[in-house]
Amino acid sequence: MCPVCNGKACSNTIPGPGAKGIGDVAIRNYDMWKEIRVNMDVISDIDEPDTETDLFGYNLRLPLIAGPVGAVNLHYGDKYNDEEYNLKLIKACHDAGIVAMTGDGTDEDVMRSACEVIKSFGGQGIPTVKPWDIDTLKNKLGLIKDSGSRAFAMDIDAAGLPFLKGRIPPAGHKTVEDLREIASLGEKPFIIKGIMTPKSAEKAVSAGAKAIVVSNHGGRVLDQCPATAEVLPEIVDAVGGKCKVLVDGGIRDGLDIFKALAVGADAVLMARPFVNAIYQGGEQAAIEMVAKFATELKDAMSMCGAKRIKDIDKSMIRIK
Ligand SMILES: Cc1cc2nc3c(=O)[nH]c(=O)nc-3n(C[C@H](O)[C@H](O)[C@H](O)COP(=O)(O)O)c2cc1C
Repeated sequence: MCPVCNGKACSNTIPGPGAKGIGDVAIRNYDMWKEIRVNMDVISDIDEPDTETDLFGYNLRLPLIAGPVGAVNLHYGDKYNDEEYNLKLIKACHDAGIVAMTGDGTDEDVMRSACEVIKSFGGQGIPTVKPWDIDTLKNKLGLIKDSGSRAFAMDIDAAGLPFLKGRIPPAGHKTVEDLREIASLGEKPFIIKGIMTPKSAEKAVSAGAKAIVVSNHGGRVLDQCPATAEVLPEIVDAVGGKCKVLVDGGIRDGLDIFKALAVGADAVLMARPFVNAIYQGGEQAAIEMVAKFATELKDAMSMCGAKRIKDIDKSMIRIK
């Protein structure tokens, strides 16, 4: 495993955890968080900041969600299949006080087993469905309903994944009307993942999304996108307050979480770090990793003057 998951060693490896094309989007995602600096202000009485937050009815120890990763055996090696990985991920996140999103795949068992695990943990997990044709979606939405999850997501940017292209019936791009239908069929808060422009964010809101994830799928769907940290401010300006704004891509520690919240995100996702932790050290490694992020976030809050998550604001960071 790499000492830091910054996209460099895996670059353009797919299959593998890398990015598409020349492979610099995952690297840029990581680098751009580092371009944001934090403003220290210790003239305060903040010793023990409170990192708890509520999202979709989940009480989270910190505003962090483990991001969905599908086909782990293809991309990371056959130590685990999706079912085994999801079981470890959901359990670890449950024990660590956060929630995990699960991925989807061409194999029907991926969604079925993910929903079963989520159900066995009292709905503590958020399934992410791919933009399939409507009949396939209806089947999967049935499983999602039964899982007891409090929200569900769709990674609409999966339209750029090679295995979705040329499918019969066609999968991939969805119109606002399609998404509106899916939002209503899902019967729980709908999270649209894969938003990179204010225009796209506005469309997601008009389709009924209760949350968006500002994400370029870690560089795996379109080469040479901007980093998510670069587009987050304009997307928050466009739809902040109209829906929850989540963000992922290269977020690697509690300080990065702090920066994303200061720009205006309601919570963040981290995906690859959870796979790395679980492949190396099972559930315990993931639990300890979350504890480390919580400590780092607390440290940033106490050093920059935020007592609670809602106190974190733009004045606490410096963007180039
Ligand atoms: C191997 C691999 C598989 C992924 N599978 C999915 C998936 O099934 N569904 C999804 O929404 N995102 C998937 N993603 C994207 C991640 O959820 C996330 O958006 C991306 O990796 C950026 O976050 P990160 O930099 O923290 O990894 C996958 C990413 C990787 C590396």
